Amino acid sequence: MKITVANHPLLAHKLTVLRDEKTKSPTFRALTEEIVTLLAYEATREVRTENVQIKTPVAMTQGNVLAKPKPVVVPILRAGLGMLEGMTRLIPTAEVGFLGMIRDHQTLQPSTYANRLPEDLTGRQCFILDPMLATGGTLIAAIEFLLAKGARDITAITILAAPEGIAALEKAFDGKNLPITLITGALDEKLNEKGYIVPGLGDAGDRLYGVV
Ligand code: URA
Repeated sequence: MKITVANHPLLAHKLTVLRDEKTKSPTFRALTEEIVTLLAYEATREVRTENVQIKTPVAMTQGNVLAKPKPVVVPILRAGLGMLEGMTRLIPTAEVGFLGMIRDHQTLQPSTYANRLPEDLTGRQCFILDPMLATGGTLIAAIEFLLAKGARDITAITILAAPEGIAALEKAFDGKNLPITLITGALDEKLNEKGYIVPGLGDAGDRLYGVV
């Protein structure tokens, strides 16, 4: 499994404002989109393209366009939804599937409550969007869900990650010879006793959409 912690001064600036507890939902949502667009640039480095011939106003030339089948973007509801616009801004022709997962606040175990995805993901490049890699339980369950539908090429994009979550992902998928990649905006210090990332940004879903 390949792990990249993105590193860019603009990203650092936007993450700092995002983390600040004084940042209100509208700004938080706008920043999340901007951060995801920056992460998506990194995450799509290996996106498949195919060669095409085109005619410019001046001459014939060879170029590259996104290959078919189109990539599939999968935001994990609810907080991953806040990342969707930032991702599709960069890759507007991608198809979007949805996976609803919730983690139990006591056990921290994830369960699936909704899914709208193609039955067969064989040969599709999949991009999972989930802002917080905390224990890793949700992301591991989401990756396993896509693997069960035939996906093999899976990239997860998170805004923040905890070392515990990365260790859990490595334990789950290392040595399985699957091209699974994680791109994250920052690697934080640890999880606290409630399973929140420290220093983190709090509950990403609540900060995006309020406590409902
Ligand atoms: N989910 C969140 O929204 N925040 C955390 O810190 C951990 C998991």
